[in-house]
Amino acid sequence: MPFPSPGHPAVEAYLTEGYDSVVGMSSRFAASICARLLRLQTEEGVSGPIAEIGAFEGRFFIALAHALDPGEVALGIDIFEWPDAGVKDRFEANCLKHGIAPERRVTIKADAGAMAPADLLKHAGGKTLRLIHIDGEHSRAALTKDLALATACLADGGLLVLDDMLHPGYPTLMVTVQNYLEAHPEIVPLCIIDRETIVAATKFVLCQRSWFERYQTRMLEIFKEQLWPLGADFEPHWCMVLALDTRLAAIT
Ligand SMILES: C[S@@+](CC[C@H](N)C(=O)[O-])C[C@H]1O[C@@H](n2cnc3c(N)ncnc32)[C@H](O)[C@@H]1O
Repeated sequence: MPFPSPGHPAVEAYLTEGYDSVVGMSSRFAASICARLLRLQTEEGVSGPIAEIGAFEGRFFIALAHALDPGEVALGIDIFEWPDAGVKDRFEANCLKHGIAPERRVTIKADAGAMAPADLLKHAGGKTLRLIHIDGEHSRAALTKDLALATACLADGGLLVLDDMLHPGYPTLMVTVQNYLEAHPEIVPLCIIDRETIVAATKFVLCQRSWFERYQTRMLEIFKEQLWPLGADFEPHWCMVLALDTRLAAIT
């Protein structure tokens, strides 16, 4: 199955020529879809800054930042200590090398779990965020805090993107997500982005229930070549599964 168009020439160029050269973990398939979702938001009148918790060396961050409109900024949050103290410099250098100038981004060296919503919103110029990629510490406690922070800072029509879902190495994260969804009936899964490899793992995209039908209607057309026919059953909520391999099991 083909990759979907990311909907921006600058993202397309980066995904083709730069993405694999930036050290990181997120999948190119997911980057392409998330960039296209940013374009969809723009088409639907949703604008504003975005953030990534766990920016690391910038692989996914740069793709998202290229999908923003003029004047919108991308916030990269990380403790920037792993695997060594040079990671922040490498993040800055990668952003510069791949065309994300300093005025288009804000680098935040911080523990996301210790940030209050007011801190994050201040970094965003007082604006709520239209997309937040959560890819920081993969423990239940950390994901719970990151989800609370992100939910408090989300714009109307905003998207929460959760990395490493259903990953064999982090099986308990799904428990946190299920607890979160039960505590937040106003938020629902919008789609699941299937894995490319065990490293380039599955992401969940969540949105406000009030935006679900609107986004889904557009996405069923935009991503029609990536739709896995059965979708995801969140009992009773149903959402799209976007995959590179859309086959069903053979039963005869
Ligand atoms: C898997 S890497 C992120 C990969 C990156 N998003 C990508 O797509 O290439 C996880 C990152 O989360 C950061 N991290 C871990 N705990 C954190 C915390 N409490 N606050 C902010 N960042 C954190 C780590 O320093 C690390 O850079």
